[in-house]
Amino acid sequence: KGKRAFIAGVADDNGYGWAIAKSLAAAGAEILVGTWVPALNIFESSLRRGKFDESRVLPDGSLMEITKIYPLDAVFDNPEDVPEDIKTNKRYAGSSKWTVQEAAESVKSDFGSIDILVHSLANGPEVVKPLLETSRKGYLAALSASSYSYVSLLKHFLPIINPGGSSISLTYIASERIIPGYGGGMSSAKAALESDTRVLAFEAGRRKGIRVNTISAGPLRSRAAKAIGFIDMMIDYSSANAPLQKELSAEEVGNTAAFLASPLASAITGGVIYVDNGLNAMGVGV
Ligand code: NAI
Repeated sequence: KGKRAFIAGVADDNGYGWAIAKSLAAAGAEILVGTWVPALNIFESSLRRGKFDESRVLPDGSLMEITKIYPLDAVFDNPEDVPEDIKTNKRYAGSSKWTVQEAAESVKSDFGSIDILVHSLANGPEVVKPLLETSRKGYLAALSASSYSYVSLLKHFLPIINPGGSSISLTYIASERIIPGYGGGMSSAKAALESDTRVLAFEAGRRKGIRVNTISAGPLRSRAAKAIGFIDMMIDYSSANAPLQKELSAEEVGNTAAFLASPLASAITGGVIYVDNGLNAMGVGV
């Protein structure tokens, strides 16, 4: 029977969220997405105008359908959290019910339940700054958007995730090894996300039998990655040094997510799963 997935962090056809949506759709899942409020209009209009039609093609030739797009800003848990300047911001005023709690409530009233929850979002306003030059505000903003956003998402969606369900986030090896250039507290945010994956696997596992894993993905030229500024260098470094000397495709991460969400992975939880052509296993560049 078809499963239903909610994927937070899809706003174009370049990122991991889109690729995960496609792999889940190809496996028969119904797709709901959560799109960052400021990116919502352009994403919806591009989709409507057919701009993504080529990238919507599934292996069987059909086009991926997104059943519903929900506005979402994962740094706010409920309406009481939203400051005045955001409430009155032009880019937010046209949408409603986009805090995490309200998004979960909307999905519940529209569909009742989901089977798969995906967190494919991150933001660090000072990502280009070394940690030694990162402000407290920038550091906490990175943690809020990239780590607590996942705790909040799982907390609010857990009541509507069906038994046997599964949850996945995306992380990066900068959490455990030094990656100069991945600054602003983003390395710290990924370390928190990985640690939280273990604790949340325990809590969601004991409470509801839900599995929680994170995929440590290799470099991809997404919108977010281009903003960091060193993505081409990281892709070249990986091709030069990884055991598998090929460019990583987003689809390979999507397929791993589909596996992790499936009963084939029924004993896998609390894990950091590397999908990086094996680069994590290298000790030195060669
Ligand atoms: P992306 O740009 O496709 O995805 C990031 C998404 O986060 C965007 O759609 C953006 O609108 C959304 N977002 C930002 N702040 C938000 C907020 N407050 N509320 C809701 N949505 C928000 O880029 P990418 O690279 O596919 O990122 C997805 C995940 O993959 C992130 O967790 C990222 O750290 C991770 N990752 C990316 C790698 C890469 O090389 N691109 C490598 C390893 C992990």
